[in-house]
Amino acid sequence: MVERKNIITIDGPSGAGKSTISKLLAAKLHYTYLDTGAMYRAVGLQVERSGLDLEAENGREKLVKLLDILDMTLAPGEEGRETRVFLHGEDVSDAIRTPEMAMVASRVSAEPEVRKKLTEMQRALGNKGAIVAEGRDMGTIVFPDAKYKFFLDATPPERAQRRQKQLLEQGQRLEYEELLAQIRKRDRDDSSRSLAPLKPAPDAVVIDSSQMSIDEVVSFLLKAVHEKQK
Ligand code: DC
Repeated sequence: MVERKNIITIDGPSGAGKSTISKLLAAKLHYTYLDTGAMYRAVGLQVERSGLDLEAENGREKLVKLLDILDMTLAPGEEGRETRVFLHGEDVSDAIRTPEMAMVASRVSAEPEVRKKLTEMQRALGNKGAIVAEGRDMGTIVFPDAKYKFFLDATPPERAQRRQKQLLEQGQRLEYEELLAQIRKRDRDDSSRSLAPLKPAPDAVVIDSSQMSIDEVVSFLLKAVHEKQK
């Protein structure tokens, strides 16, 4: 397998700091930041809006149709900014970044049809240029040939605290206990699904960021990339 030098993958559970760190790393290296969680969230939003019941008898069939006509575009976040996501022309970037949409995204992400569609889209975006791809299965499934792979982790209480602070900055107040329960549930669901479960690629560098600052993690990643580039 030929290693792809212009792809950096960052996988890990929710709240481990992946987005912040991936954005900073991409900006430093002048790579495009690819937020694949935003893509699953957007599909989740579309499923919600269309009132589709995945458990219904014809749920699968309807999901396939929804995905067939889905018009999703991404505008890469420039220099450290959030990826903008458009559904049928509408900017849904804020609507998808709520705790409720995170749970819906986790639910739809277990659907094989959804994974197939988004994996194809992500690979196409990866063919366009240098990227920092952030998600759950970037190093294992989507870009197994990436040269630089990282798995960013932190303890659930630390992640719940970070998420609470982040949401507060966006004007949303949520109880720590509720966030911790959500994080634990998502960890369980994302890791136990049969398709593309959350786990480090065998060749990924695993980092526990519980005791590290954002700058420390970014410096560590930059150093690791530069060393491997030599
Ligand atoms: O990274 P995030 O919190 O925005 O992701 C939302 C959900 O999407 C997450 O709980 C699982 C799913 N997801 C996935 O299955 N595969 C990815 N590559 C990215 C996200």
